[in-house]
Amino acid sequence: MAAALVAVALATPPVSAAAGGRSPAERLRRQQVQGLLRKLNKAPLASIQSPDGDIIDCVHISKQPAFDHPLLKNHTIQMRPSYYPGGKYNGSKNEPHPITQTWHQNGKCPDNTVPIRRIKEEDILRASSIGKYGKKRPSYIPNLIPTADPDTPSVLVGHQHAVASARNANNHYGTKASFNLWQPEIERKDDFSLTQLWVTSGSYTDEDLNTVEAGWQVYPDMYGDNNTRLFIYWTRDAYSKTGCYNLVCPGFVQTNNQIAIGGSLSPVSIYGGSQYDIDILVWKDLNGGNWWLQVGGSDVGLLAVIPSSPASQTGPPLSNGAERYSRLMPAQTSTQMGSGHFPQEGFGKASHIKNIQVVDSSNNLQPPSGVDLLTEQSNCYNVQVGGANSNWGTYIYYGGPGKNPNCQ
Ligand SMILES: *[C@@H]1O[C@H](CO)[C@@H](O)[C@H](O)[C@H]1NC(C)=O
Ligand SMILES: *[C@@H]1O[C@H](CO)[C@@H](O)[C@H](O)[C@H]1NC(C)=O
Ligand SMILES: *[C@@H]1O[C@H](CO)[C@@H](O)[C@H](O)[C@H]1NC(C)=O
Repeated sequence: MAAALVAVALATPPVSAAAGGRSPAERLRRQQVQGLLRKLNKAPLASIQSPDGDIIDCVHISKQPAFDHPLLKNHTIQMRPSYYPGGKYNGSKNEPHPITQTWHQNGKCPDNTVPIRRIKEEDILRASSIGKYGKKRPSYIPNLIPTADPDTPSVLVGHQHAVASARNANNHYGTKASFNLWQPEIERKDDFSLTQLWVTSGSYTDEDLNTVEAGWQVYPDMYGDNNTRLFIYWTRDAYSKTGCYNLVCPGFVQTNNQIAIGGSLSPVSIYGGSQYDIDILVWKDLNGGNWWLQVGGSDVGLLAVIPSSPASQTGPPLSNGAERYSRLMPAQTSTQMGSGHFPQEGFGKASHIKNIQVVDSSNNLQPPSGVDLLTEQSNCYNVQVGGANSNWGTYIYYGGPGKNPNCQ
């Protein structure tokens, strides 16, 4: 195996020359974009040019964006969770396999740094406004229990889901699953397609809904390409004032020097061919109460600014599934979900999420006592619980092509 190169460029994020000869409004906008770039992109100790066009900045761990948050100013970095959830599947032969990201081909970040995908000027310019960069479009947690929270919208224009929610998961403290990796085709560049887990507490209508979300997504408008990328998302107030993708709002403290949030994941699965999965675990550390993220068996970091109540009573507190968004509604688009194929095609063709587990109040991982499925229009995208398979635990097949003769 070739020795990994450590890139040594001593780069600072570029700030383009102030634009002369433009209208005052245009100059102001450019100044705002540059201001946001200076805030988001921290001076790196080294930078790695990824084959996919990304630049990965290796930022000193104490200089990462999380520490811009007022509550984290004097934060002592907790490098490790105090407790890992135990259980049948931890550290055993079933897993974990470390993830591979495209930028790994060109180098590694040194110790005491964290890899951060550099935000480009054009990334921000693609957002509908500077303030909306990295925020979620109006969204919601698909609600499977309408009576529990009658005002929660059960359908939101443009969003479609295929979700499995753990039954009886109140007072649970996290979830874990293996997510099949695909690169769904996106018809319009402002569509997105993702596969993820949701851990939620609070309620949508009281606007105290907290969510911690992680998975993979294809989102041309956010990243400027069609790559399958690792993402995180969190909100403290039902997507109202707080909440961002990745590191756009300060709050997530990275402890890992090999996994870049927002970085491309490769390889991805091939229809009828090689299959790739990533294992994702989100759990609440018993000591300290922070939510931790583990990907491919490695700790990635902790979310230090979310109130630390357990997954709670309203809504489906622990879910695994997928979402497709298109602004073009009510018309359907051919933006795919998962592999772009329906669940009944089965392994290697339909996408799967397997070994779905929940963290119980004794900090043990165990299969959910059952799952509830949700999908809005099963002729467009669908979800099914998989049959008996002793190595796969609780699992689902999900996905679909979107627009087709039965889905217009
Ligand atoms: C951080 O530490 C400095 C110096 O000890 C102190 O002045 C400041 O109030 C602290 N800030 C917070 C948010 O605790
Ligand atoms: C899972 O982790 C716990 C805590 O680290 C450990 O005690 C237990 O032996 C592990 N189980 C397996 C099957 O490795
Ligand atoms: C992304 O995919 C769409 C649809 O397949 C294609 O039209 C577009 O050119 C692709 N964009 C990039 C940046 O490759």
